[in-house]
Amino acid sequence: MSPKLDNNFKVEQSAASDDSIQQVHARLQSQKPEKKDGYSLTPLVLLGVMCSAVFFGSIYMAHNAVRFDPLVVNEHAKREKPGAAGAVALTRAQLGKKIFLSTCATCHQANGLGVPGQYPPLAGSEWAQGPEERVIRIVLQGLNGPITVNGTDFNNVMAPLGAVLKDEQIANVLSYVRAELGNKAPEVQPETVAKVRAEVADHAGYWTAPDLLKIGQ
Ligand code: HEC
Repeated sequence: MSPKLDNNFKVEQSAASDDSIQQVHARLQSQKPEKKDGYSLTPLVLLGVMCSAVFFGSIYMAHNAVRFDPLVVNEHAKREKPGAAGAVALTRAQLGKKIFLSTCATCHQANGLGVPGQYPPLAGSEWAQGPEERVIRIVLQGLNGPITVNGTDFNNVMAPLGAVLKDEQIANVLSYVRAELGNKAPEVQPETVAKVRAEVADHAGYWTAPDLLKIGQ
């Protein structure tokens, strides 16, 4: 706040003499509040309070913060051997979800309900949850011709994916399909996929529903 000067002390710049300036300064000086000696405790106390808030706050957060586990959020995470220190093992179904969404959901839809008249549902499907030898064959070498799924007839073609997906990927995606989408069937292991892949090496062409029904009874 600038101190108010009464008219007598107004200094016209042009008319300012050394004397008049000194007079004004003297007047202003006398209006300033007197300085108190010594320290005021208030800022020091406030500083102390803030420092301890930061200090104890940090300790509190260090103890209670939720840590993001890189294995949970890292989509490239590998399945760790059980018991590996600090590892959060993802199930095959969890690992297979991404493959399902990028590879199968285009046709069978993300919710697994398919498209009426075109793509049969995987949700509730007796084929998806049936013998693993059949469903592995479908993914490896494709499927062609009439098939009944959940009581509805389809007659379409599913292209083979055996050249696109590795054994482990097929095991994971089928484990997802069989455990999620409202389904309830056991996991598929990569060794089983490898075994079936070897068995079907000399089988030419797509599978048909009647051929599949002869397998894995
Ligand atoms: C390009 C479209 C397409 C893609 C991609 C696709 N499918 Fe299919 N799938 C079909 C069609 C069409 C049929 C039915 C074929 C027929 O009518 O003979 C089918 C049938 C099936 C069946 C047997 C019937 C049923 O609904 O249960 C299973 C199981 C299956 N697919 C699983 C998968 C899985 C797992 C993937 C991903 C790895 C996949 N499909 C990717 C189109 C597709």
